[in-house]
Amino acid sequence: MKHSEIVAQAHPNIALIKYWGKRDARLNLPAVGSLSITLSQLETCTRIARHAAAPDDCVYIDELLLDGAPAETELRTRLQTLANQMWRNNGPPPVLAIDTHNNFPTAAGLASSASGYAALVTGLDSILDCHYDDSELSTFARIGSGSAARSLYGGFVLMDKGLQEDGSDAIARPLLGADEWPLDVVIAVTSTTSKQTSSTDGMERTRATSPFFPAWCAGQETDLAAASSAVRARDFDQLADLSEYSCLKMHGLMMAAQPGLLYWNAATLACLHEIRALRNRGVGVFFTVDAGPQVKAICAPGEGDAVAAILGEIDGVITLHRAGLGEGARVVAAR
Ligand code: PMV
Repeated sequence: MKHSEIVAQAHPNIALIKYWGKRDARLNLPAVGSLSITLSQLETCTRIARHAAAPDDCVYIDELLLDGAPAETELRTRLQTLANQMWRNNGPPPVLAIDTHNNFPTAAGLASSASGYAALVTGLDSILDCHYDDSELSTFARIGSGSAARSLYGGFVLMDKGLQEDGSDAIARPLLGADEWPLDVVIAVTSTTSKQTSSTDGMERTRATSPFFPAWCAGQETDLAAASSAVRARDFDQLADLSEYSCLKMHGLMMAAQPGLLYWNAATLACLHEIRALRNRGVGVFFTVDAGPQVKAICAPGEGDAVAAILGEIDGVITLHRAGLGEGARVVAAR
C-alpha cells in the first residue's frame, strides 16, 4: 500500500569486534566482518513525506532537514542517489521531503551515521513501496555507511565481510535479542569537536600504509567466532577480553599508519585505565573506543549506575549518555 507519509526510527550501534578497512571502497565493502550491539535510548527519527510526481524520470528529494536545519546539497544529492537505487519503477517517481532528528549529538563519535542510514533505508523502503528483503536492505544501508546495516537489527548483530565481488553477501544478521542479555552502556563524551580524519579516509590510509593491516584481516574471523560463542553463552568476561582486544588491536593498527591516526585524548586514556581498575575490583565492565575520543563502557546487567558514577568524576569527561540494548530499525507511523 502506498503511504503519503511515514516515520522510521533506528538506534546507533557500537562494534565490539571492530570493522576497520574496506575491501572495495566504491561499493563500501568491509575488509573484515564485525559484531555489534544496538543501543536503546539514543535514537534517530526520520519523517518522509511523499508529494506529487517528480518532474523527471527519477525520485527527487526537494527538502532535507537534519535536526531542523537544511542539509548541504552534497548530502541531499547522495541521499537522492540512494533513493533512486532503491526505487523499483513502480509508478511515477515521487518528490520526497525528509526531516530527520537525533536525540543525541550528530557527528560526535556516537554513530549517528549508522542510525541515520538505517532509519532512512527503512523509511524509503516503506514510502517507495519497495518491500526489499533483509539482505537487500542491508546492502542499501551499507552503501550509506559501513556500520549502518548493523542498526537494522536490535541486540547483538553480526556483519559478514562477504566474499562476492558485488557485495551481495556482505550483510548484517541478528545474533541475540536485546532482552536476552540486557547489558548496560555508559558513554563518556570527552570532546565535542568533530574528528580530523573521517572513517573513510582513515580506513584507506590504514589499508595502504599500516604494516599490521594483513595481520588484522587474517585474525578477524577467529575473533568473531570466539566473540559469537561468548555472546551465545552470555559469558561476560570472555566477551570483555575479546572486545578490548579488538578495540586496542584496531587502534594499534591505526597508530601504525603513516601518518599515524591518534583519535584519543587524555580523558579517553584516563577512562580506559579507570575501567580496567574497576574490572580488576570485580565490577562487570569493559571498554571500547571507535574512530574518535568517546569511550563506551559496556556493563554487565545492573552495573551501569556504579560505572557512570565513577566515569562522571574523571577530568575531561564532558557528559555521559546512558543506554541499554535496543531494537532494530522500524517504521513507527504511516498514513
Ligand atoms: O560506519 P563507518 O564507515 O563510519 O565505520 C565505522 C568504524 C568503527 O566505528 C571504528 C568500527 C565499527 O565497526 O563500527
